[in-house]
Amino acid sequence: MFDIEYLDIPPLTRAAGTVHLPGSKSISNRVLLLAALSRGQTTVHELLASDDTAVMLAALKQLGCTVKQDGDIAVIGGLGGQLVQTKARLFMGNAGTAMRPLTAALALLGGEFELSGVQRMHERPIGDLVDALRQLGCSIEYLGNDGFPPLRLRPGQLKLEDPIHVRGDVSSQFLTALLMALPLVARRDICIEVVGELISRPYIEITLNLLKRFGIQVQREGWQRFTIPAGSQYQSPGEIHVEGDASSASYFIALGAIAESAKGQNGIEILGVGADSIQGDIRFVEAARMMGAQIDSTPNSLRISRGSWPLKAIDLDCNHIPDAAMTLAVMALYADGTTFLRNIASWRVKETDRIAAMACELRKLGATVKEGADYLKITPPMQREAWKAASIRTYDDHRVAMCFSLAAFNPAQLPVRILDPKCVAKTFPDYFEALFAMAEADTTHIPVICIDGPTASGKGTLAALAAQRLGYHYLDSGALYRLSAFAATRAGVALDDGAGVARIARALPVRFQGDRVFLETEDVSEAIRTEAAGMAASKVSAHPQVRSALVALQHSFRRLPGLVADGRDMGTVIFPDAPLKIYLTASARHRAERRHKQLISKGNPATIPAILQDLEARDARDMSRQAAPLKPADDARLLDNSDLSIEKSVAQVIDWWQGTRPF
Ligand code: DC
Repeated sequence: MFDIEYLDIPPLTRAAGTVHLPGSKSISNRVLLLAALSRGQTTVHELLASDDTAVMLAALKQLGCTVKQDGDIAVIGGLGGQLVQTKARLFMGNAGTAMRPLTAALALLGGEFELSGVQRMHERPIGDLVDALRQLGCSIEYLGNDGFPPLRLRPGQLKLEDPIHVRGDVSSQFLTALLMALPLVARRDICIEVVGELISRPYIEITLNLLKRFGIQVQREGWQRFTIPAGSQYQSPGEIHVEGDASSASYFIALGAIAESAKGQNGIEILGVGADSIQGDIRFVEAARMMGAQIDSTPNSLRISRGSWPLKAIDLDCNHIPDAAMTLAVMALYADGTTFLRNIASWRVKETDRIAAMACELRKLGATVKEGADYLKITPPMQREAWKAASIRTYDDHRVAMCFSLAAFNPAQLPVRILDPKCVAKTFPDYFEALFAMAEADTTHIPVICIDGPTASGKGTLAALAAQRLGYHYLDSGALYRLSAFAATRAGVALDDGAGVARIARALPVRFQGDRVFLETEDVSEAIRTEAAGMAASKVSAHPQVRSALVALQHSFRRLPGLVADGRDMGTVIFPDAPLKIYLTASARHRAERRHKQLISKGNPATIPAILQDLEARDARDMSRQAAPLKPADDARLLDNSDLSIEKSVAQVIDWWQGTRPF
């Protein structure tokens, strides 16, 4: 998860591989509630892990359901339409998909309940649903402002004879809530009539589809009248799989349409949604095909590769795919003319005003954009030179962040900066990891920041913190020499046997995990950090064969989106083309004092004069050896941190880094 201020995506070239989509939120929360209302046990596979599903699960447990979770599988023991707990205070967070249907179900089942949420939840309307439930005889009281949560529910006298009227033009969730709750009391036919034009029909289709899986056949006349037949009863299907999120699929469909496939590979494969999807946004596939994407589907997967190139500009009414259509706006950057996205007025009232946001950010990249009340017309940058390196604002809107990552395939090979990238957590916490696992960049475009310097200069801490601030990988190259010496000693190879140690170094079974270092499965983090291990590392690192044995391993850390590497020869030998090289030092006295503190805090007895002597001997050996001696690269910046706090040192590195960026 990129919990950082900004993420710089290097220019990308190709892409290939497989992505397993996270589960759909709408389906996850519906399935959880339906499983809870059914008789018997339901095993839910591929459940989305998100704030909103956690809220639903917590509420169901409070109501007496049994919930067993193992990874993305949840086993729900249903209530069979009978309340175990008839009194509870339920906290709904900011989950509309939990608040609305639970209100309806609990109001009909009877009992005394209070439902509340975060402040924002108390500003989201629920009056239309409450009005509909009151027609049925439910007793519901507003505890704050009329028309909004929090609510108190009490048992009422149900009247099921007359049709129930509910408004359909504000949110389809009110109708969904009634459709899911009324089968609990279907002693006779129950009829719902929608007042006003029903919006977001694809979501009602999801509801009807899932109801069918749980044994309820709703009869529908157009989109105006729905009847739940007398005698309807929830029946668990036993096992149910949650589809991947079809809106999230749009970024990877676009990726396959835009990026050439990596060598020898066959485009992008998406697992979790396919031709059988019950989500409306699956129709993004048709729009992507119109633009030129080649897409094959199975019931539960998609395979995409580049078809027409450049993409074809389109003129499309996007009303049926409001969320996924944002991705078309970024695909338009790669089209052969002006793309016209029409009937997208709903974008204005989503997480942000998406029409204004998309127009503004697309212009930053060099596109010409005309914005109307309910449309966008996008003309891509006409030639390579017209593209601009841009810092993209994301407006706390996960979809803006995800779709603009695709601008990194620009032909001008410019990087793209995504501000506040963690906003993707709303629906796809690992989006950027998934993108980087499939996308490729020219190695020379993957940035490296080198931090070299003598022992105990604080390189490790500084490099790790800088990497964290930028969302980059981190290479502690000293650990590789320490590990080589450690593994050699284990294997009975003498440290002065250069060829012998090199053989071991070439096949080091090393694994870094957070700040832990493993040799095969053994955690050796502490063992390689001792003074003796450092001295042994210094010895083996003087052998040219050992150094060259570790080159490929060090290069393999240069991965998207970037790397911060610390050591002795990062800037001089391993990454000579790095755009930023820093030579970090501090006076020998300062370094000895720091090391002393470190050792004492770990309970190791040491004196400053002995450490100073040790440290100077190590410096002398590292600097005077023939192979890659420790020295500043010609183009390195010098940073003496004798009197600098770690925060100031990190700020200096980030400042220098910013100076190399085109934004
Ligand atoms: O940074 P460190 O103390 O973990 O490094 C241990 C030894 O490894 C150091 O004394 C010299 C050697 N080393 C090296 O020669 N080249 C590097 N890039 C990193 C470390």
